[in-house]
Amino acid sequence: MDNEKIIQILKDHEGQFVSGEIISQEVGITRAAIWKRISALKEMGYVIDARQNMGYRLMRAPDILTPSELQYRLGTKIVGKEIRYYPVLESTNAEAFRLASAGGEDGLVVVTDHQTGGKGRLNRTWFSFRRQSISLSVVLRPKIVPYLATMLTYMTGIALYEAIYAQTAMKPAIKWPNDILMSGKKVAGVLCELNTETDVVNFAVIGIGLNLNVRKKRFPEEIREVSTSLYEETKKRLKRVAFVKELLRQLDYWYGVFLRDGGDGRILAEWKDRSKIVGQDVKIRSFNEEIVGKVVDVDSYGALIVESKDGERKRVIAGDLETFVLTEE
Ligand code: BTN
Repeated sequence: MDNEKIIQILKDHEGQFVSGEIISQEVGITRAAIWKRISALKEMGYVIDARQNMGYRLMRAPDILTPSELQYRLGTKIVGKEIRYYPVLESTNAEAFRLASAGGEDGLVVVTDHQTGGKGRLNRTWFSFRRQSISLSVVLRPKIVPYLATMLTYMTGIALYEAIYAQTAMKPAIKWPNDILMSGKKVAGVLCELNTETDVVNFAVIGIGLNLNVRKKRFPEEIREVSTSLYEETKKRLKRVAFVKELLRQLDYWYGVFLRDGGDGRILAEWKDRSKIVGQDVKIRSFNEEIVGKVVDVDSYGALIVESKDGERKRVIAGDLETFVLTEE
């Protein structure tokens, strides 16, 4: 807590020296204690100029996903009000689920540098790479009926799309239900897990995995040809803090829209617009069935309405899209 306050004071005085006296008054600790804290911050990667009679000046902050870095001037209303950072975690979704079950609040974010047992959709494994991937989960507590939960994943798809666009100036594609693709390859995925009763959602955990600075050769062979990263697409290393802050702001904005509109209004319309799924010829493996046809609509439950050649219509709520003609801009 004291470290966070010190960082905030130094950041508020960017480029200027702040005296030990002022920090000591604002944080409520002795000048000797400040010295110790400053040494600890330096070990974390903060570059701080310390001079006698002048005080301390922050020269550079490290690109680490701690609350001090992520919450500084974040400006969100709900998402990220509380952030829990872990150097290593098996799965941010599992930890967020545990925290939510113990009362974790709406908008709580769980983030890690190193996810060792990431979960993907349909019981798959999700590969994360230490400090190269973004692995985070958000606890949400909207007062909704379970069928609207699909809209939470669509909302996350929109937020991811916008965050990528804001950070790279490149528009990704959304592949139903919620893969984010660039150059036809997967760059991010969303796993929404729920705690529900028959008629109400107690909480949702929205897990987001994104390949940020991962090099192609690091992907395991089985996914190398179908995966990409923002680094591979832009050839630039992106700052993790900047990307995650953008993502949290986008999630907060779109969650606000969701809470006002109930999900099946503007969220659905905005998702349809970005996913460009309506009008596409698709082949979907849904449970044990293969559904082939043209998507003619997405209903208010988020299900695809697929019309086969002979005019028969089917609702598809879950599955894997196997063929899809991509329309990236
Ligand atoms: C998918 O495309 O199959 C969804 C991948 C979701 C991965 C993220 S990484 C953060 C969060 N924690 C997990 O264990 N999974 C999600």
